[in-house]
Amino acid sequence: MRPIGILGGGQLARMLALAAHNLGLRCRVYDPAADPPAAAVAKHHRGRFDHVEVLRQFGSGLSVVTYEVEHLPIAALEKLAGVVDLYPGLSAIRVASDRLVEKNFVNAAGIQTAAFAAVDRVEDVDEAIDRLGLPLILKTRTQGYDGRGQAVVQTRREAIRALRKLGGSDLIAESLVRFDSELSIIAVRSRTGQIAAYPLVENHHGEGILRWTLAPAPELDRRICRRAEKIARRLLAELDYVGVLCVELFRVGDTLLVNEIAPRVHNSGHWTIEGAETSQFENHLRAILGLPLGSTEANGNWVLFNLLGRTPDVRRVLELPGAHLHLYDKSPRPGRKLGHVNYRAGDPRRARVRLQSQLGLS
Ligand SMILES: Nc1ncnc2c1ncn2[C@@H]1O[C@H](COP(=O)(O)OP(=O)(O)O)[C@@H](O)[C@H]1O
Ligand SMILES: [Mg+2]
Repeated sequence: MRPIGILGGGQLARMLALAAHNLGLRCRVYDPAADPPAAAVAKHHRGRFDHVEVLRQFGSGLSVVTYEVEHLPIAALEKLAGVVDLYPGLSAIRVASDRLVEKNFVNAAGIQTAAFAAVDRVEDVDEAIDRLGLPLILKTRTQGYDGRGQAVVQTRREAIRALRKLGGSDLIAESLVRFDSELSIIAVRSRTGQIAAYPLVENHHGEGILRWTLAPAPELDRRICRRAEKIARRLLAELDYVGVLCVELFRVGDTLLVNEIAPRVHNSGHWTIEGAETSQFENHLRAILGLPLGSTEANGNWVLFNLLGRTPDVRRVLELPGAHLHLYDKSPRPGRKLGHVNYRAGDPRRARVRLQSQLGLS
């Protein structure tokens, strides 16, 4: 079979390529960086995402193309989709790469989000404050990730300052949700229409970056799990989606609000490498190739702990029974995702505390 193309060569592409190896498949990654993490395990084509000709050349020799980032120039992707099948399709990127389009789309599908307003000038800030109240969270509509391009504002003055800092227009204001927990659900739909969903998981963020995930989400009412799965299935259907989709949720009591959707494999699904019958990476590949999906069942309780900014002593991780170390071969930088530990545990809340203190992680 011809190779599978992946746009973006970060750790997500690296783990996709590793899953592909087990299925006897090859991947090629396209990334503007000189030596991205996936280049160690897949052939790397260096190029800019808006460089249509280079992108088309990349696509022409491939069986199918997927991506590990959603912030991609749509016009170039349209051209690429003319020479090779692209999954998830363009409608998923159009929706997920713009927070305003995304929220309107989710609401139109009959699913709740935080209250929001478009902000393109100072007058819009006043209108948003009138309608949504304070505090607010201001976000750039496009290009944000890991909490970048966002500001929580308590006063009008702070909001005006944030408006300027975040570019002056093309922003969205959201009411700050006082959630009981943050959850996410990863679902997958194959080209054949087959659908599967992983258990709902509980996510903990610091400064907008995922720190750890408990999988499956502990102590959750079955009804909430079913509700989350229904939301995911609805979105898959609305987008005529192919591949893995992650839906980030806020739980307020029994109510679920969609925070955002990611049309790709997702950090909160990294536990599935050892923790589920079939990893999110393998199921994404199966889905885009039209192969039967694997079971999404969890084998026990897991803590997924992100290694941010620095890596702990490797020996201390490896001597911990039940711990699995994944490093992405990236150079350390404050807040950077360098790897993760999947840790099987009876009581995941206690295990997370133990893991963190034993490894001296922050
Ligand atoms: N409206 C909101 N109310 C409360 N917390 C929020 C809201 N929006 C974002 N956050 C917090 O910031 C984190 C990152 O925001 P998110 O919109 O998911 O952006 P990113 O694309 O950077 O992941 C969320 O996981 C959540 O912890
Ligand atoms: Mg998010």
